[in-house]
This record gives sequence, C-alpha cells and structure tokens, in this order.
Amino acid sequence: MSKAIISLTDVSFSYEGAEDKALQGVSFTVEKGEFLSIIGHNGSGKSTLAKLLNGLLLPSEGKIEVNSIATADDARIWEVRKAVGMVFQNPDNQFVAPTVEDDIAFGMENIGVPPSDMEARIQDALEQVNMTEFRTAEPNRLSGGQKQRVAIAGALAIRPAVLVLDEATAMLDPRGRKEVLEVVRRMNREAGMTVIQITHYLEETLDSDRIMVMDGGMLVGEGTPESIYQKVDWLRRLGLDVPFACDLQYRLQQKGFRFPTLKMTGEGVLDSLWISD
Ligand SMILES: Nc1ncnc2c1ncn2[C@@H]1O[C@H](COP(=O)(O)OP(=O)(O)OP(=O)(O)O)[C@@H](O)[C@H]1O
Ligand SMILES: [Mg+2]
Repeated sequence: MSKAIISLTDVSFSYEGAEDKALQGVSFTVEKGEFLSIIGHNGSGKSTLAKLLNGLLLPSEGKIEVNSIATADDARIWEVRKAVGMVFQNPDNQFVAPTVEDDIAFGMENIGVPPSDMEARIQDALEQVNMTEFRTAEPNRLSGGQKQRVAIAGALAIRPAVLVLDEATAMLDPRGRKEVLEVVRRMNREAGMTVIQITHYLEETLDSDRIMVMDGGMLVGEGTPESIYQKVDWLRRLGLDVPFACDLQYRLQQKGFRFPTLKMTGEGVLDSLWISD
C-alpha cells in the first residue's frame, strides 16, 4: 500500500503574462517519511514547484494533493498549509515579530492554534532546533544559521507533516549550513518528518532517499543519489555540477583509471583506487 503524502498529477503552471510555462506536465508522489532533494539549473521551476506544494500557488492544469486534499480546494486550504511547512532562502525576510517567541506565535495564530497550546509548542519547536536560549532574542541579532533554525522552528510549531526547504541554506556560511542540515536530518530520522529540500549544494543531497532533477519546468530524472550522480555528462548538459568525489573519479577515468561505479564520498574514492589497477 502506498503511503503517498503528496501527489502531483500532470501539473503545469504559468505565471500571469508569462509566455512560457514555469512548470509543465509534472507528476510524482512523495512518500511519508521520505527525504527528497530537488536539483535543477536556475529557472528550472524548483521554487514554483515548492510554492505549489502548500497552495501558495495553484496549478494552471493538473492536480496536487496533500494528504488526499486537493490544494485547489478552497474550503480546505488551511489543512494543506498546516500540513506543509515552508522555509525560504533569505533568513532576513522570514520574520515579522520583534522576538523569536512572538514570531513563532504569529505563525501559529495564523492557522488558529489555540493560545493555550502555544507555550508548549514554542518550547518544543525551539528545543528541536537547539535555540531554546534565544527565545526572547531579537531575530535580527542572530547569525544566519540561527535565523534559519528559528524559521524552521516557526514551521515546526505548526506541526507540519512535510517540511519544504527552498534553498534554505543558500545564504549561510558553512557552519550555518551544517547547523541547519543537522536539524533537518534529525527531524527526518527521529521524528519521521517528510523533508523536501531544494538545493544547489549537491553535497547536501548525498544522503537523500531520492533526488529529482528539474529542467525547463519539467521533471527530467529521478533516482537515488548513487544513480543520479553516475550521469556526469547528462548533469553537465543540464548546467549542473556533480559532487566533488564524482568529479574527481570522472577526471581520473579520463586519464585511464577504471571505476565500475562512481563513489560519492572521498572514502569511497579511496576504496575504489585501492582496488583498481
Ligand atoms: N513571479 C514570477 N512571475 C513571472 N515569472 C516568474 C516568476 N517567478 C518565476 N518566474 C519564471 O518561472 C520560471 C521558473 O522559475 P523558478 O523561480 O521556479 O525557478 P528556480 O528553479 O527556483 O530557479 P532558481 O534556481 O534561480 O531559484 C523561470 O523562467 C522564471 O523566470
Ligand atoms: Mg528558486
């Protein structure tokens, strides 16, 4: 039995006045508990797709269901919004309140969480992202990584089934990226939260359950990281890079080394070199 939490059937989307479709004929499902990464060149439709997933945008054609509720069902849009939390790229554009706790409370007010539940939810969400001590801090004074963790806490306080991160680590330094990723991975592994992350940092996709590749508004490939990153030439043609370890082996291959498969980590490469002749 399938445990799809999100399903898209032949979804297309056009922005008003735009000639080209931003998304075209996209169909896929996301399983409960899955860690899915979406990669694709600039303008390939990733952010458009993210906004469609919680009904911020509605499909021009086709259908999107979250927990079997169509995002186009006006009467149930809040159920969809509650089920799919979003964290965007720019940490500075995500805060509306003067303190961390007020900001998290604001998001909950929006979806009608009873005030008596808020206290416990704020506490819980801040614990999950290791930001308890910043509860009364001003969001503006936090580091980029801390801001994104607060943004994630805001999303978690809604208790979503799915967390969508649209380049949520793009503006962070390596340390901030690591902080955010660790939180997200833990939520996925320990709390079984379904995660959909859009990223340009391919190294961040290596332990995903699945990677989807977008190009020109279409879904052009999907598979495990191991299978996707074998296709170095194809990815390059799509304007994408490959993880460092794959690139290294690819170059070594051109110098005559033979690898049955490209390994995705430095250790994997070392093992392969050790046994290759
Ligand atoms: N608000 C908008 N109005 C009109 N066209 C838009 C709008 N937002 C995006 N587009 C267009 O839709 C297409 C898909 O854009 P989208 O932002 O979804 O791509 P993306 O994969 O997220 O790109 P990036 O990697 O740069 O974030 C692009 O051609 C883009 O120019
Ligand atoms: Mg984008």
